[in-house]
Amino acid sequence: EQAEIGLIGLGVMGSNLSLNIAEKGNKIAVFNRTAEVTRKFHAEAGALQNQIVPCETLEEFVAAIRPPRPIIIMIKAGDPVDQQMEHLKPYLSAGDIMIDAGNANFRDTMRRFDNLKDSGLTFIGMGVSGGEEGARHGPSIMVGGTEESWKRVEKVLTSISAKFNGEPCVAWLGENGAGHFVKTIHNGIEYADMQMIAEIYGILRDGLGMSASEIGNVFGRWNTGRLNSYLIEISEKVLKANDPITGKPMVDVIVDRAGQKGTGKWSVIEAQNMGVAATAIEAAVAGRILSSQREERVAAERIFGLPKAERPKDGMAFLADLENALLAAKIGAYAQGFAVMAAASAEYNWNLPMPTIARIWRAGCIIRSQFLDEITSAFTKDPHVANLIVTPAFSKMVKETDGALRRVVSYAALSGLPVPALSSALSYFDAYRRSRGTANLTQAQRDFFGAHGFDRLDGVDKHHGPWGSGLEEFA
Ligand code: 6PG
Repeated sequence: EQAEIGLIGLGVMGSNLSLNIAEKGNKIAVFNRTAEVTRKFHAEAGALQNQIVPCETLEEFVAAIRPPRPIIIMIKAGDPVDQQMEHLKPYLSAGDIMIDAGNANFRDTMRRFDNLKDSGLTFIGMGVSGGEEGARHGPSIMVGGTEESWKRVEKVLTSISAKFNGEPCVAWLGENGAGHFVKTIHNGIEYADMQMIAEIYGILRDGLGMSASEIGNVFGRWNTGRLNSYLIEISEKVLKANDPITGKPMVDVIVDRAGQKGTGKWSVIEAQNMGVAATAIEAAVAGRILSSQREERVAAERIFGLPKAERPKDGMAFLADLENALLAAKIGAYAQGFAVMAAASAEYNWNLPMPTIARIWRAGCIIRSQFLDEITSAFTKDPHVANLIVTPAFSKMVKETDGALRRVVSYAALSGLPVPALSSALSYFDAYRRSRGTANLTQAQRDFFGAHGFDRLDGVDKHHGPWGSGLEEFA
């Protein structure tokens, strides 16, 4: 009996995904560039050995899979994927499907998809979220490709995906780059969510003077309420862990310099390209950039010192404010992420199903939460709503919590505590809900120095101002 699917690249993610596939009763052929890795993987697969076909050549590997062959490529994103595809191509036949399961830039996915068109082969760009644990026991899976290729892999992917109340967290989201685009925005939202949690942590640590484990307790309590989510859950765990070497809280010995591999930045770039304001995601990426400039920050603190953070008068009330502020800001970040996807859907003709995206993010992925179940309901009721913020359920939540966000951002500003993501979410909301903004001045300036023209509120057909530069002649 031939394998149902193949997988190339037995790193941690690839190995875990393979074991997950095998465990769910699907026979899988595996290949790794270094044959020793393949042998070791198979030898250690225990009870799943019968379900796994270890292959040492690509020829043998391809022959082991039932056509049309779905082949998952789980290797480092970028050039290695192109190289692997080139190596594999000569062994494949029409209808076979190469599946890139890495964190690819959707532009690469679109290119790969197009490049394969004439060969009769097809390509799936598949976002997989949930880290190592998710890959092993149930990730959230975002599929982009032809519907026909999706049909070929639907059963296997459904069997390995995470389940939320029994519903599989996998879906076909659209053609070519749709899956990787959605995964990218998932990560952009992940960046914003993490940054906001870190900002709240900063207020608790530097404003309220709380210890890591005390802050862990706060997050633990919040995790039983409306903020219930995987990221809050692991924040509690992380804050309560101690360093085995020094015995200090682990977070207190970790350098405050965050890495990034690109998906957050791509989210921002694509948002900007399409003219969507994704300010909370931008703030999160910028936050990581500033964090990495540690030497400069150390030098600047020597020059400026730090303002003294006043303790809030009513600690309990302030804690409640922090919880609500995080919720309000989080709504802003998710609204922005979904707005970016809505714009991309139109731009690339993907017809992205917003309720489905929210649905498959409820379990398995890094941003999984109760909150996403509420987003699912909101989009199910109104799939084409302009912005999540104005749906009945979320507008109610924003009205209940924006005051808290305002107080927290004010407190942080007065205390000199940086809250770029929280404050950008607040400004986004304040700009979005105000019918009369200030761009009339911007327009006047643009017209003054560049004769760019403006529209009038009264609709009168005069598009230039009396600036005295002779431009009024053109009005
Ligand atoms: C996930 C994660 C995962 C990883 C990203 C982001 O959904 O499982 O998003 O894909 O954490 O690579 O990583 P960086 O923070 O390193 O950019």
